Amino acid sequence: MKALILAGGKGTRLRPLSCTRPKLLFPILNKPLLDWTLESLAEIGISEVTLAVKHMAEAFMQRYGKSKYGMKISYSREKKPMRTGGAIKYAEELIGHKEPFLVLNGDIFTKIDYTKLLKKHKETNAVAIIALYRVEDPSRYGTVKLTEESRVTQFAEKAPPGQAPSNLINAGIYVLDPKIFDHIPGGRPVSIEHEIFPKLAKEGKFFGHEFKEIWMDIGKSRDYLKANRILLDTEEKKRHLGKDANIDEKVKFNDPVMVDAEVKIGQKSRVGPHAIIGRDVVLGREVLLENSVVFPGAILSDFASVTGAVIGEGATIGKGAKISEGCIIGDYVTIRDNITLSRDVTVCPSKEVTESVPESTRII
Ligand code: GDD
Ligand code: MG
Repeated sequence: MKALILAGGKGTRLRPLSCTRPKLLFPILNKPLLDWTLESLAEIGISEVTLAVKHMAEAFMQRYGKSKYGMKISYSREKKPMRTGGAIKYAEELIGHKEPFLVLNGDIFTKIDYTKLLKKHKETNAVAIIALYRVEDPSRYGTVKLTEESRVTQFAEKAPPGQAPSNLINAGIYVLDPKIFDHIPGGRPVSIEHEIFPKLAKEGKFFGHEFKEIWMDIGKSRDYLKANRILLDTEEKKRHLGKDANIDEKVKFNDPVMVDAEVKIGQKSRVGPHAIIGRDVVLGREVLLENSVVFPGAILSDFASVTGAVIGEGATIGKGAKISEGCIIGDYVTIRDNITLSRDVTVCPSKEVTESVPESTRII
């Protein structure tokens, strides 16, 4: 069976970190989200994965090449953003008409049992099966009305608060029959959620499958941190120390923590809970790091304090600097010594911050 991963979105809600990397390549527990997805597809025996790409297409092609995890990887490279439905139509030749195929929104993390979803497709022979997940607030998602026989009779994309047909949301995971290609107009951008699913629902060719395994969307920075935190909590091992990590014996760990290879941590630093530290990161002495993700190669100098933040690749946090809750520091940013950033400050890649920032703002 083939799978198509929609990977062409801009990830604007994840700026400034998405200025320099596609959101599918954001590390989740120190491994790019797309690698998690590909591994799970390899496990269920998918033979070929097509990546529908546009924004930062080269980053995908360079990293994944022609095969990964034993699967063939191909690229459907759009000339302009075709949106979700248009991207599926654009990949029609690569996918072919032989058999049903799996489609995934690339920006979700899930441990769904795909075999149940595929079984549902066999039972119903529908044009589309959609995986559904129950949430409290469905306003950021597509929602459905489902009959007792799991038929989708209504699909509403991002309905205004109070108007969603249910709390069952579109998890961005579908099994589609090749007949779907006849339902999507070619040659122009098409939103499958706005244009195609509502029609399929009316025509009775659309079925849903509710699942309860882990599902997370990393569309916004807060979701990204939360996803890392929740997944770290689900790890059996509470303290991961990567190969050749150089950790002073006076470091105080507050588990759970995850430290990648070649990381250095200086004396009396306090690390965790929920500290996820990428490869080659350096923490000086007496650094405080909690509830944060630090991308590879960043430096947190002596006495720096980082709480509830994401620190981009190769960024330098100066001595005694204080990075507060909700801050997102872009790649290769420099925060000078003794600077304090208040809550929710975001800093664009390669900027140098030379004065403290007393209120939530974007430094561009
Ligand atoms: N190739 C390609 N081309 N991919 C695209 C394009 C495009 O023009 N536009 C978006 N994508 C990809 C994104 O990279 C993402 O992986 C996926 O399509 C969904 O797009 P988002 O922009 O992330 O949509 P959303 O999060 O607002 O809503 C979607 O996902 C929700 C679940 O997370 C919808 O499918 C909702 O119905 C759903 O509930
Ligand atoms: Mg999304």
